Amino acid sequence: MNTEILPVNDESIRLAGRFIREGQIIGIPTETVYGLGADALNEQAVMKIFAAKGRPADNPLIVHVSCEEEIKPLVTEIPETARLLMKRFWPGPMTLVLPKAHCIPDVVSAGLDTVGIRMPESAAARAIIRESRRPIAAPSANTSGRPSPTTAMHVYEDLHGKIPLIIDDGPCRVGVESTVIDARGEIPVILRPGGITAEMIMQAVGSVRIDEHVMQPVAEGEAVRSPGMKYKHYAPKAKVVIYDGRPEAVQAAICRRYDAFTGKACILGRTEHNYGNRRVISLGSLQHPEEAAAALFAALRELDEEGIELALCEAVDQQGIGLAVMNRMGRAAAFDIERCL
Ligand code: TXA
Ligand code: MG
Repeated sequence: MNTEILPVNDESIRLAGRFIREGQIIGIPTETVYGLGADALNEQAVMKIFAAKGRPADNPLIVHVSCEEEIKPLVTEIPETARLLMKRFWPGPMTLVLPKAHCIPDVVSAGLDTVGIRMPESAAARAIIRESRRPIAAPSANTSGRPSPTTAMHVYEDLHGKIPLIIDDGPCRVGVESTVIDARGEIPVILRPGGITAEMIMQAVGSVRIDEHVMQPVAEGEAVRSPGMKYKHYAPKAKVVIYDGRPEAVQAAICRRYDAFTGKACILGRTEHNYGNRRVISLGSLQHPEEAAAALFAALRELDEEGIELALCEAVDQQGIGLAVMNRMGRAAAFDIERCL
């Protein structure tokens, strides 16, 4: 199959909508990461997503809508807290887990009685949903286990030959996936941190909980609230180690390890820190924590491209969007974190 990459315009959006209606899967831009979209109500189409990504069948998909009226038929109930969150943060990088309606095929929800719903901020994404006249099920458009794609080229790298179309809307603004929230109870529970931060949720509804597995690996056989927590994620071929602690101590420890390593090493650090001639990929300025989120997945892909064997990462502050960055970095490192005093 030939994979076409088209910029956003009326014609490409119409084509995208037609492909979705016809049961094809396509690459779709959003403000978080690129998605691999299919008609959420078409079981055959959704199965193509799992096949193309090599995704485990027990990991459910997020269903994307373009406006509020489209949510009602997809869920059986919208509790008050969920309503507040929707009002405050949609359209935007937030997914709400709600009790699912019958029309959602089991392949989408992976057999759970809930479904994750998201209204993206990206105008192109919403235009494609509107044009298709379908809710769109879309995981991140990467091969399972690889870093999520933040450019159309990343999607192409992983899925060319398997999908007919990628709509290119440039690099994703946020760069990490949406915040996934279990919104069935009074207190929202963050299952995956993202662009809508714990602090923002706290301010909007007065309470928030963060699932323990956000910054901890899942033990063999342990029950989780979100299947995605179980899987190895974002792992480049390189060994990834995170250094956390006093900045001077972190930089010194990274330099020591880098210099002692005889293979190809690389540092993922902040622009303010000077590593001399050592190979560094920047995660942006300390003054702008959102730059680390926007840069992380491309940096992880770059490691593989350069054949890096050891990646030494500066930890980022876990406040705000930093929690999402550390969750992804932590998983890429299998939570191998060195504390520096
Ligand atoms: O930003 C995003 O959320 C992107 C863009 C394309 O919208 N999508 C995305 O989808 O990241 P995916 O499939 O790569 O990640 C969805 C995560 C998985 O960890 C999955 O386990 C969890 O959300 N999830 C989906 N439905 C769920 C449910 N009903 N209950 C608990 N967790 C759920
Ligand atoms: Mg994903």
